[in-house]
Amino acid sequence: MQIDLQGIADILHSYPAQQRYSLAILQDMQRRFNYIPREGMEALAEYLDCPLSSLYAMATFYKALSLKPKGRHIIKLCDGTACHIRGSVNLVGGVERLLGIQAGETSADGQFSLELVNCLGSCALAPVMVVDDTYYGKVTMERLPEILARYRKEGQS
Ligand code: FES
Repeated sequence: MQIDLQGIADILHSYPAQQRYSLAILQDMQRRFNYIPREGMEALAEYLDCPLSSLYAMATFYKALSLKPKGRHIIKLCDGTACHIRGSVNLVGGVERLLGIQAGETSADGQFSLELVNCLGSCALAPVMVVDDTYYGKVTMERLPEILARYRKEGQS
């Protein structure tokens, strides 16, 4: 994958070269690339004159930061207690089959990443699935293809 080095440089130079800005810079890279490229980590370590290992420690500590490329759309499937009782396991299998990936992976076309989470705070609507920022409650196997198709169409436009 071609990494936008100028994009990385732009992000770095929008902050003073001080370590207290490292998290903000990593968050900006995450937003721009949907993950933090290795080139971004190395450039940041050089810019701040700090050890690469401390940046990796930060990037792996914060869940919102990812060192692996993520899909254009993030699917979060809840497997907390309420959702589990209402059949979330079947939904996980259903999404995995439809996308040809396992939980924690990204589809080959880069459209979707699938994550399992513990509770999305909407247990009354179990089983719950979130795609990007949109909540879907009382999800059934029958609805899965239609929900995913909405995002596939968006990706083509
Ligand atoms: S357990 Fe799934 S939303 Fe709470």
